[in-house]
Amino acid sequence: MSNTSEGSTRILVTGATGTVGREVVARLCDAGKPVTAAVRDPRAADVVPGVPTVRFDFEQPATYGPAFADHGALFLVRPPAITRVWSSIFPAIDAAVRAGVRHVVFLSLQGAEANPLVPHRWIEWKLASTDVTATLLRPSFFMQNLVTTHRREIARDGRLVVPAGTGRTAFIDARDIAAVAARVLIEPRYAGRAFELTGPAALTYHEVADVLSDVLGRTIRYDEPGVLDFLQHSRREGRPWPFILVMTGIYLTARFGGAARTTSTVASVLERPARSFRRFAEDYATAWERQRPA
Ligand SMILES: NC(=O)c1ccc[n+]([C@@H]2O[C@H](COP(=O)([O-])OP(=O)(O)OC[C@H]3O[C@@H](n4cnc5c(N)ncnc54)[C@H](OP(=O)(O)O)[C@@H]3O)[C@@H](O)[C@H]2O)c1
Repeated sequence: MSNTSEGSTRILVTGATGTVGREVVARLCDAGKPVTAAVRDPRAADVVPGVPTVRFDFEQPATYGPAFADHGALFLVRPPAITRVWSSIFPAIDAAVRAGVRHVVFLSLQGAEANPLVPHRWIEWKLASTDVTATLLRPSFFMQNLVTTHRREIARDGRLVVPAGTGRTAFIDARDIAAVAARVLIEPRYAGRAFELTGPAALTYHEVADVLSDVLGRTIRYDEPGVLDFLQHSRREGRPWPFILVMTGIYLTARFGGAARTTSTVASVLERPARSFRRFAEDYATAWERQRPA
């Protein structure tokens, strides 16, 4: 890590095959920083060409020591499937500290500081109780959810099926989260702080559908489906129940106005505006082509 005089300067990135982690690896490489991608299957992982990988699995404590060795900083992602954080994420944090990691940048969640029900909050508490410098990134809802979770319904059916009513969401482009993460991993002045990260505007799903329709040149509908429609649609899509319930909570929060808060933090850290939803839609337009396999 370049911000201390002792120990390793190498940065370990967890979730390195995921939406944010992959971009964090790329941004650190661009900056010429020594980085290792922590991956569950090094044979399958092709994160960024030329970047070393190390085997790491939160559910396999034997992988902790070898992965954390010779790293001074850690980008920590809680995989969405891990809910019992005390039995996998907490021991991994302890192992990281024992191995000499001095700075952890954690990908948390907007509003986590006021929500004791989310596992991100428990991880924040764990980090605060540990002898490590913790920097917290608390992003809003990712624009990229529309090319992952919702890609198929948009591409195949020309619809957005979320029970968010006319509530607004401060969508953020995950590429901006990664750029901020790289910056705070590199520049010591950001260490130990918490950052609430959002996109530049809070949009309704009607506005999202309008931008998508405009960019894709065909109509994408949003007809304010209710919770029951959403549950039925999600089951037809084969989504697992725990995931459906988490999503329902997220969309109802948006419906009742709890996801609309915007900040200017991305612009002030990156010294450029946060990416707009239109820019995101233009950059990812091919993801919603109808002929792609569903
Ligand atoms: N989506 C949103 O709108 C949003 C908003 C705010 C915060 N967040 C938070 O962001 C986090 C997810 O980030 P993301 O979307 O970048 O991740 P993601 O794309 O869902 O990828 C998950 C990553 O975790 C890895 N992983 C899964 N199980 C693992 C295990 N047992 N051990 C080690 N690694 C494992 C996966 O690796 P494999 O390739 O091996 O599967 C993958 O790299 C979550 O905590 C979520 O709550 C999301």
